Order: sequence, then structure tokens, then C-alpha cells
Amino acid sequence: MIAEPKKTRQDNFEPRGDFEPKIVGFLCNWCSYAGADKAGLAQIPYPPNVRVVKFMCSGRMDPQFVLQAYANGADGVLILACHFGDCHYKEGNFRATQRHRMLLQLLKQEGIEEERCRFDYVSASEGDKFVQVVTEMTEAIRKLGPLHRQFILKAKGDS
Ligand code: FES
Repeated sequence: MIAEPKKTRQDNFEPRGDFEPKIVGFLCNWCSYAGADKAGLAQIPYPPNVRVVKFMCSGRMDPQFVLQAYANGADGVLILACHFGDCHYKEGNFRATQRHRMLLQLLKQEGIEEERCRFDYVSASEGDKFVQVVTEMTEAIRKLGPLHRQFILKAKGDS
């Protein structure tokens, strides 16, 4: 008898149609990255669409990083932080929340859907929440389709 090949995480999320979203995920080291690690250790399947960039605190998130991610091919950007009261640098997540609001206004003015830039809180123990957020965002961007990059390239000076 021939054994069935073992299913990998990738097998659970075969591309649907021509478009597969590219999502850049900025994850804080202390909570969200550990949450993603927990999901990985527990082998919880989730869409492989997120490219993770780890930094020490979400307060380090500069709106320019988000625009650069779009300019370099991302269809969405996910920013994950510690919950309020858990930030290792006290108020980094609060600052990141404010920057995210500002960023959404800028993107809205240019007709870019707010679903393309999601901010959320994931703690080190919330591997399941990490999976939920990534899955929801991937589905939302699949529905929206690829990002129209005209504004982003103009902002970068490439148009
Ligand atoms: S250390 Fe996680 S958001 Fe500041």
C-alpha cells in the first residue's frame, strides 16, 4: 500500500484564480511575532500570503514603510501590536494607532480602500487570533483585487 503524501500548510491554501494577494505584515517582536510563532508551533494552518517584517515595537512603524511596501508590490499591509497596557515601550502601540488613523485618511483621499491597511492587536498567547486576522485580511484583499499603484508610484517619484 502506498501512503498518501503528507498535507502541508500550503496544500490547504491553493491559489484561487489568477490573483493571490501579497501582504506585508509588520509585527512587534514582543507580542505579535510571538503570537505568529505560537500559531506556527501549534501547526494551525493559515494563508501563506503574509511576508513578515519584525520590529521591536509597533511604535517604530513609520507611515513611509507602509507606502514603500505598496510601492514595492504589496496589495495590503498588516500592522500588529501588543494590546494596550502590554507595550514593552509603554506607549508605542498608542502612537502606532494614531499613525494608522492618519495613514487611513491619506489612503482614503487617494481612493485606496482601508481594508488594505489593517491594524490589530495580537498577544504572544493569541496564535489563533493571528491566524484569524491573516485569514480575514487575505480574503478581504482577494475580493478587492490587486492594488492600483498609480498614487503610490507618484508619491515615490517613479511615475
Ligand atoms: S512592544 Fe509591542 S507594541 Fe510596543
